[in-house]
Amino acid sequence: MRKKLLLGNWKMNKTPSEAKEFALGSKDMVEYAISHGIDVGVAPTFVCLQTVKENADPRLIVSAQNCNEHDHGAYTGEISIPMLQELGIDWVILGHSERREYNGETSEKCNEKIKALLAAKMHPVYCCGESEATFEKGETKKWVAEQIRVGLDGLTPEEAKEVVIAYEPIWAIGTGKSATKEIAEDTIGFIRRTLREMFGPVAADIRILYGGSVKPNNIAEYMSEEDIDGALVGGASLALDSYKGLIEGLVG
Ligand code: PGA
Repeated sequence: MRKKLLLGNWKMNKTPSEAKEFALGSKDMVEYAISHGIDVGVAPTFVCLQTVKENADPRLIVSAQNCNEHDHGAYTGEISIPMLQELGIDWVILGHSERREYNGETSEKCNEKIKALLAAKMHPVYCCGESEATFEKGETKKWVAEQIRVGLDGLTPEEAKEVVIAYEPIWAIGTGKSATKEIAEDTIGFIRRTLREMFGPVAADIRILYGGSVKPNNIAEYMSEEDIDGALVGGASLALDSYKGLIEGLVG
């Protein structure tokens, strides 16, 4: 049985004081989620990680939005895994479409980062998803399969089990145009079959999230689908009320 997961991707939003306010205000809802067997987390910017970690319920997952694959060195502007570990951060989102588009992140680079994270016993959340043009051409599965095969290349089944996958069609991110639950399930079921081909039966244990304009009023629809194990949520994860609505929708 895969545990449901709600992860809020804050992107480049919230100053440290705003992040602290959210952390302090989220304690009851984290308790509610945990008591219903759901994992919940947020991914603040690097500068807000510590304040969220220090002020939230310790069971709230606090994830970074990226990391570097090297432990230290001449990589200006980068943040390493040991730096995150010292803050008690053990989750990292990788390969988000915005990082692929604006920061040149490739599936090959994500693969290096995933391996570094797994070696450090951390949890990568690996994002995949197609553009509107790819979707219109009917090439979603081919595109996503390539991202999964390259991103998770060389992992053992035991390692693959530690990775969370997030399927986020780019045309649904921040647009208010969410994929229907049928489209999401169709692609996510396909991702699970791809994982089975790569890693065997452990594919049944790998959590796969849907992301893209998930809101309190539509999250429950996705959760009714067999292969969807939770959501990676941007805009609707920023305000406490809305985040609470997402948890309630997930609990059902
Ligand atoms: P959105 O973003 O929920 O604002 O569409 C999702 C994401 O990019 O992770």
